[in-house]
Amino acid sequence: MDASLSPDARADLLLAQLTQDEKLSLVSGFWGAPAPWAHYDPPPLARHGSAGFVPGIDRLGVQPQWQTDAGIGVAQQGSVAVKRERTALPSGMAVAASWNPDVAFAGGAMIGGEARASGLNVQLAGGVDLMREPRNGRNFEYGGEDPLLAGTIVGAAVRGIQSNHIISTIKHYAFNDQETGRNQYSVVIDDAAARQSDLLAFEIALEQSQAGSVMCSYNRFQGDYACENDYLLNHVLKRDWRWPGYVMSDWGATHSTANAANHGLDQENGVIHEDSHHFGANLAQAITAGQVPQARLDDMVRRILRSMFAVGLFEHPIPEDQTTIDYEADEHVSQNAAEQGIVLLKNEHDILPLSANARSIAVIGAHADVGVLSGGGSSQVYPRGGNAAPGVAPTGWPGPVIFNPSSPLAAIRAHAPNANVQYDAGIDPGAAARLARHADVAIVFITQWTSESQDFSLTLNDNQDALVAAVARANPHTIVVMETGGPVFMPWLSHVRGVLEAWYPGTKGGAAIASVLFGDANPSGHLPISFPASLAQLPRPHLDGEGLPENSQFEVRYGEGAAVGYKWFDRQHLEPVFPFGFGLSYTSFAHSNLAAQADGDGVRVTFAVRNTGRRAGMDVAQIYVTPLGGGWEAPKRLGGWQNLALTPGQQAQGTVTIDPRLLATWDADAHHWRIAAGRYRITLAASARDPGQSVIITLPARVLERP
Ligand code: GLC
Repeated sequence: MDASLSPDARADLLLAQLTQDEKLSLVSGFWGAPAPWAHYDPPPLARHGSAGFVPGIDRLGVQPQWQTDAGIGVAQQGSVAVKRERTALPSGMAVAASWNPDVAFAGGAMIGGEARASGLNVQLAGGVDLMREPRNGRNFEYGGEDPLLAGTIVGAAVRGIQSNHIISTIKHYAFNDQETGRNQYSVVIDDAAARQSDLLAFEIALEQSQAGSVMCSYNRFQGDYACENDYLLNHVLKRDWRWPGYVMSDWGATHSTANAANHGLDQENGVIHEDSHHFGANLAQAITAGQVPQARLDDMVRRILRSMFAVGLFEHPIPEDQTTIDYEADEHVSQNAAEQGIVLLKNEHDILPLSANARSIAVIGAHADVGVLSGGGSSQVYPRGGNAAPGVAPTGWPGPVIFNPSSPLAAIRAHAPNANVQYDAGIDPGAAARLARHADVAIVFITQWTSESQDFSLTLNDNQDALVAAVARANPHTIVVMETGGPVFMPWLSHVRGVLEAWYPGTKGGAAIASVLFGDANPSGHLPISFPASLAQLPRPHLDGEGLPENSQFEVRYGEGAAVGYKWFDRQHLEPVFPFGFGLSYTSFAHSNLAAQADGDGVRVTFAVRNTGRRAGMDVAQIYVTPLGGGWEAPKRLGGWQNLALTPGQQAQGTVTIDPRLLATWDADAHHWRIAAGRYRITLAASARDPGQSVIITLPARVLERP
């Protein structure tokens, strides 16, 4: 308990005090909620309806590990009747769309505070799997398609969570980039491409968060399950990256005892009964039989204890009685994140922002009279006030479909108190069109519900495309507000005047949408993903595994390598509907004075940004890098960016330092990063498709020594 010692020293001292049984008890986690498919009651000390529970060691002051989902807030397992209602952030995709690490940190700090106040000290957050597959049902939980953006934003969110002296994960490690067949498929990709894409996102997120735990994923990688994958766990994570934390399995993702322990798994989670228990007594026997060295169990325990010391769990134990939560303050954090994550995709004839003096507004569709959509699965937060639109299918796993009770209609009415604001459910396009025809402006809300455990079409369901088309025909002053998990097809795009992408906007999503619609918040979101025009543009138009018999094993071969998202579009000379990095504002910005020079192993870029419009706003100035001699997975990479908040007429200097890994390729044979000598174009742009302005620099050949 000597806090002046390092976490490593303290873990060693404590480890030496543990009995073998106590060591074994720390490396197995049990479901914290009843498992509907099994006759199982959670351990009595588990928190009601929580994700998991690992017993503590009372005599030595080691508290239990009370595990909760997830990255959007304190989630609740659907299998319990009484829900713990907490504040929901907007989706991970929305937070990534803010491109603002401060927003991500503040959101993490908020949900980590609610976790601690709810008696929970391990938050299963930090989803950072790249959007390789736009149909992936869990894209909404993650940080988009670029490793630097996703790693930086998710890293900041996890740093925020851990600022509450609780442990957070980074997950799902690795390449769990689709849900179809997640327990069956094996990802195939070469080492260099792996290091320069998904693994780089995890590496950056871990560096920036110091996450106490990594959750290995359900899928296989190069044939071996991720939770017993020697390459992923021992070679990359623990040896190359020298990461000191512990690897926990996803729930039920452990498939062996000795193989898993020896290949780097430190904690099995999701145990519901003996036959799903690979550690415990089985691990004791494997050690006795000499299949697993005692030193491996000691290392597993040391890593868990080290992470507990590193986040300050011993100095800040979870109090016996749960503490109060300042929901008003927490909801403010959520609404700010939602406002900063909303992306203005189209604003023809400046139809937005709306005037508070508007006379008549038609609000249509998507239960916009009562709430805003959220994503489904284990990350589901149950909002205070309950589900605003109960009964929307599916009501069972991975549902229920939850609408946060923050009504866009009510918020719009509050912003335009003198306007005649009418609502139509949007079920009958004809009725909706009749309402729209007589309004000054029509706002159509559309939804795409996505969730864990399945993948989804990019085509809107429930006749929503016909609804938008009918309204747009009736009233050219039509605005569409999208509540989606990721990109969707928009066949009506040319017929509407304005489009906002609001993602799943969280507990105060209705208020956030109205705030942007009326200009109280000037949208500064930029896409963390590309919006494809068709499936034909994707590396794998046919979703691997789709249509196969249940439980079929199959491979997902990443032929695109590290060319994920805009990198693929660039390499294949494809035009997305909306590009990575794109986002409009109610003001305008001018970029100038771009300069770049080598700076140590990296490159330092400076530039100026001026607000040339009449409203204060935030610019997201993006820096892309292109090797003029080629040799990368794609023509260019995001090398960095800076958010600059500027008042009208104000000019500020931007500075971006490009991480040397983003100038390099991974040399799998020599096992290090290598920067090729040559000339590189540094571009300052407003999106991945914006030619922007460029300078050329020359770099010498360099090998990046391992950190
Ligand atoms: C789920 C998810 C994981 C979650 C865990 C506990 O299956 O894959 O993200 O943290 O189980 O609910």
